[in-house]
Amino acid sequence: MSTKHLVSIKDYTKEDILRVLQEAEEFEKNPNQRLLEGKVVATLFFEPSTRTRLSFETAVNRLGGRIIGFSDASTTSSSKGETLKDTIKMVSNYADLIIMRHHLEGAARYASEISDVPIVNAGDGANQHPSQTMLDLYSIYKTQGTLDNLTITMVGDLKFGRTVHSLLIALAHFKPTFHFVAPKLLAMPEEYINFCKKRNIPYYEHEDFTTEVINQTDILYMTRVQRERFTDIMEYEKVKNVYILNNAMLDKSKETLRVLHPLPRVNEISTDVDDNPKAYYFEQARNGVFARQAIICDVLGIV
Ligand code: CP
Repeated sequence: MSTKHLVSIKDYTKEDILRVLQEAEEFEKNPNQRLLEGKVVATLFFEPSTRTRLSFETAVNRLGGRIIGFSDASTTSSSKGETLKDTIKMVSNYADLIIMRHHLEGAARYASEISDVPIVNAGDGANQHPSQTMLDLYSIYKTQGTLDNLTITMVGDLKFGRTVHSLLIALAHFKPTFHFVAPKLLAMPEEYINFCKKRNIPYYEHEDFTTEVINQTDILYMTRVQRERFTDIMEYEKVKNVYILNNAMLDKSKETLRVLHPLPRVNEISTDVDDNPKAYYFEQARNGVFARQAIICDVLGIV
């Protein structure tokens, strides 16, 4: 049997996604199960992370597995020049599963071609973040009661934001309508616009972040401008505060609207939104543990 990986959300069919979400629901009801007894999971984070690494590690701990890995690549032999290939070869000798974040787009795919054990992509450059997508879909399902026929507004850095790229692809299974709110410099890349065109998915591009758009929206997906992806810091300075959501902007929005954000937030959501019942980003991060328990078990063929 071939090794199962989660490198891109495109690796998973609609049925695969629904199966993982159903498992996530079960893990939320009963998170402490010893399904990973005797298994070792490696978390290799070549880029900084708070939620993704800690929620994956929480997921493993709650399932009775053990963790090895690093959160700072400068303490590893990659700082002495060891290649990614050699690192993956070594770690796949030690662990049953590798969860990896890397700054290079395609790094997780490359790792999956080398590794004898499953690879879960925890984010590769501006490309994909499929485990985030699972928790986003789980959060959308929990708050809306469905994934179908929703109006999703994505706001902010749609160029470098890997979470919106993965989410757009996954939502294509569920008849969405998209609004993309971004300055020209950070617009949704052509690849994803063409993806919508090919599938006749309605989408609307805006440079202004207006209440007119918010009021039509079911899920308002805010994103951070990704300073670390800019080669010219002056360009970042021009767009870093381009949109800031505040409480008043939600006044006439649908009662059922929920504000999501993959986090970390910088200042694109004003803190006055945090106590609004429509703010869901902290619960969304909590859902990451259950979605990631489901992903781990899925790639390992458990349950
Ligand atoms: N959402 C997300 O990927 O957060 P971290 O960078 O903290 O892992």
